[in-house]
Amino acid sequence: MRLLVLGGTHFLGRHVATAALERGHEVATFTRGVSGAPPAGARALHGDRDDPAALPAALDGWAPELVVDTSCQTRAAADNAAAVLGDVAGHAFVSSLNAYRDWPPGPVRGEDGPTWDTDEDGYGQDKAHAERVLGAAVGDGFVTARAGLIVGPYDPVHRLGWWLERIAAGGRVVVPAESWDQPIALVDARDLAGWLVEAAERGLSGPVNTTGPAGMTTLGGLLATCREVTGGDAEWVPVPDADLLAAGVEEWVHLPLWLQAATARTAWDVDTGRARELGLPSRPVRDSVADTWAWLQQSGRPTPRPGRELPGLPAALEAELLAGR
Ligand SMILES: NC(=O)c1ccc[n+]([C@@H]2O[C@H](COP(=O)([O-])OP(=O)(O)OC[C@H]3O[C@@H](n4cnc5c(N)ncnc54)[C@H](OP(=O)(O)O)[C@@H]3O)[C@@H](O)[C@H]2O)c1
Repeated sequence: MRLLVLGGTHFLGRHVATAALERGHEVATFTRGVSGAPPAGARALHGDRDDPAALPAALDGWAPELVVDTSCQTRAAADNAAAVLGDVAGHAFVSSLNAYRDWPPGPVRGEDGPTWDTDEDGYGQDKAHAERVLGAAVGDGFVTARAGLIVGPYDPVHRLGWWLERIAAGGRVVVPAESWDQPIALVDARDLAGWLVEAAERGLSGPVNTTGPAGMTTLGGLLATCREVTGGDAEWVPVPDADLLAAGVEEWVHLPLWLQAATARTAWDVDTGRARELGLPSRPVRDSVADTWAWLQQSGRPTPRPGRELPGLPAALEAELLAGR
């Protein structure tokens, strides 16, 4: 079928385009053309999706039957797509758990919890707006994937990547003491991508919490897997939440995947029963870690997106936390 990826040249979208090509679709990607080219075999359409005229001009009469949207970040981007892409057999939209008004801290029980419904801009608010306008335009066959933590090769966000690099460098590594045994979940971009294509093909409808099964690993288990995969000699130095916060360590940013214990307990508690029923796969964590490490070694640290910084613990902060421990 004719499948349009809104996005498709960077990370999740690149895996979507690859999966769609492997499944025999005629694939086009729509991007501004600044983040590189799509996988070979996909047709590259260009334009800024915040501009209402850009998508119709780029499509130029090519009518997609299926859509997978990995690139929606603004209300205008959603409104413009809704105006043009209502008449499709299946549309898989990549949203986020942040669309839930009460997450974080959560927990997320099923998919019925309230989503944001305000005029105020913000990541979760904009995703919730997009779910509403695109859902109204498409009707049946609109499925919204509320993604949690996405990992895998080509990841430009560099959360797992930072831990891999830091652990590979070895020596004494600051780890959050209370979160070591915290159950966490993640989804490999390749698992999610293949599922999104199938979800669009099947014309699935409604919201789905698309992350791994709660407790598929723990934060400590993930970091131990990073040490095993990189072969580093890292020695864990557990630091209590109170000391991390007092030193100015920012949750999720300076120590990727770390949330203080009170938030972490509920934030990682996400019911993915519907995703499991609908066949979202979850490959072994070790495979995601090993493949991300192999990719990182080959490609080098990703370039941060304009106006963003890569996450990670600044060296001075690390030295301060390690001193006297
Ligand atoms: N990473 C996570 O853990 C996580 C968690 C939850 C949800 N999510 C969601 O998952 C998705 C992941 O996306 P990804 O970055 O991996 O997808 P991607 O489709 O691989 O990359 C983003 C694409 O958007 C294009 N783009 C950016 N701004 C554009 C614009 N104004 N007009 C047209 N195209 C534009 C970029 O190309 P150009 O730069 O060339 O335009 C790029 O191809 C996002 O929707 C994110 O909100 C991520």
